[in-house]
Amino acid sequence: MNKKFSLNVNGHVHTVEADEQMPLLYALRDDLGLNNPHFGCGLAQCGACTVHLDGEAVRSCVMPVSAAANKTVTTIAGLGTPEKPHPLQAAYVAEGVPQCGYCINGWVMTAAALLQKNPKATDAELRDGLAGLKCRCGTHVAIMRAIKRAQSSQA
Ligand code: FES
Ligand code: FES
Repeated sequence: MNKKFSLNVNGHVHTVEADEQMPLLYALRDDLGLNNPHFGCGLAQCGACTVHLDGEAVRSCVMPVSAAANKTVTTIAGLGTPEKPHPLQAAYVAEGVPQCGYCINGWVMTAAALLQKNPKATDAELRDGLAGLKCRCGTHVAIMRAIKRAQSSQA
């Protein structure tokens, strides 16, 4: 049976009517019309669907919409703006990271949450924190370069 859930997404409050077990990802894409996060595996295996829930990076393909009710959801569109991008978004552009771009949401959102907690994360800590993400285009070296650039821009 469907229920109503209040979702605060990127600073705007929305009401979504859905089964409580429906993935948050479906609410964000299908009900709210956001084109990021992406659907990749749907099994918490790739990270393309990552959003922040009260500041924590979570995989929205396996997060029930009910678990996000009355919490703060941030998508990559809420991380920065074209005029004032998040340091990671600016660094990804400067380093020309994306190939197809499908995975980028996951890397940026996961790294943003990680750097929020640990701005001076070492290479080993970054690799560990990003280990569950996938990029089929092989941009991993460029991704690390961009994260290091974002770190130094905030130092
Ligand atoms: S789509 Fe969610 S982890 Fe792959
Ligand atoms: S840029 Fe294509 S999957 Fe990562």
